[in-house]
Amino acid sequence: MNPIVEPESPEDIDAIYQLNVAAFDGRTEEAELVDALRRDGDLLLSLVAHHDGVVVGHVAFSRVVIDAADGLVGGVALAPVGVDPRFQREGVGSVLIETGIALLSDESVLLVVGDPAYYTRFGFSVAAGERYPSFYSGPYFMALVVGDPAVGPIGPVTYAEAFELVN
Ligand SMILES: CC(C)(COP(=O)(O)OP(=O)(O)OC[C@H]1O[C@@H](n2cnc3c(N)ncnc32)[C@H](O)[C@@H]1OP(=O)(O)O)[C@@H](O)C(=O)NCCC(=O)NCCS
Repeated sequence: MNPIVEPESPEDIDAIYQLNVAAFDGRTEEAELVDALRRDGDLLLSLVAHHDGVVVGHVAFSRVVIDAADGLVGGVALAPVGVDPRFQREGVGSVLIETGIALLSDESVLLVVGDPAYYTRFGFSVAAGERYPSFYSGPYFMALVVGDPAVGPIGPVTYAEAFELVN
């Protein structure tokens, strides 16, 4: 499939909610998280994948704060990402994540919680994640350091308030 990937527009918002409910087996937490991030102004980048005019995938990126040695620095959290179950394993999730990473290439670090078997293919690593202690730290917490890791910020991370919904 070759979906069209673009930033969300107001007419996508209801479809994004439904898409996330479907992708997460009927759970509403992730759909509510996206709405709360948007409402709070913390949705840094929200990309939709359209296929035949229908939203078949979505990924959200939001601002995190890194308490680095030089002071507070911005980073980015990737969450959630969801693909319509009817279209999974056709590359939609990959193109959404790769497009987001490319659009956020000026950022210092991206963080994600998920299966390393999936996210390592985009450059995320558990070892890099250990540099950013957070509520989500552990074997599923990964970072992708965009610039030179030797000069990038390191330190504890605070997620946007809306993530308290899914903790
Ligand atoms: C995870 C998800 C976004 C991936 O999107 P997708 O369009 O299905 O994935 P892609 O087609 O880009 O990639 C498919 C590859 O990813 C692998 N993959 C998909 N989901 C995976 C998962 N949860 N863990 C590990 N690998 C996974 C597939 O095995 C496949 O591997 P292959 O290329 O070696 O065959 C999608 O499966 C989804 O919406 N899942 C339910 C919601 C979810 O769990 N989201 C992630 C947590 S925030």
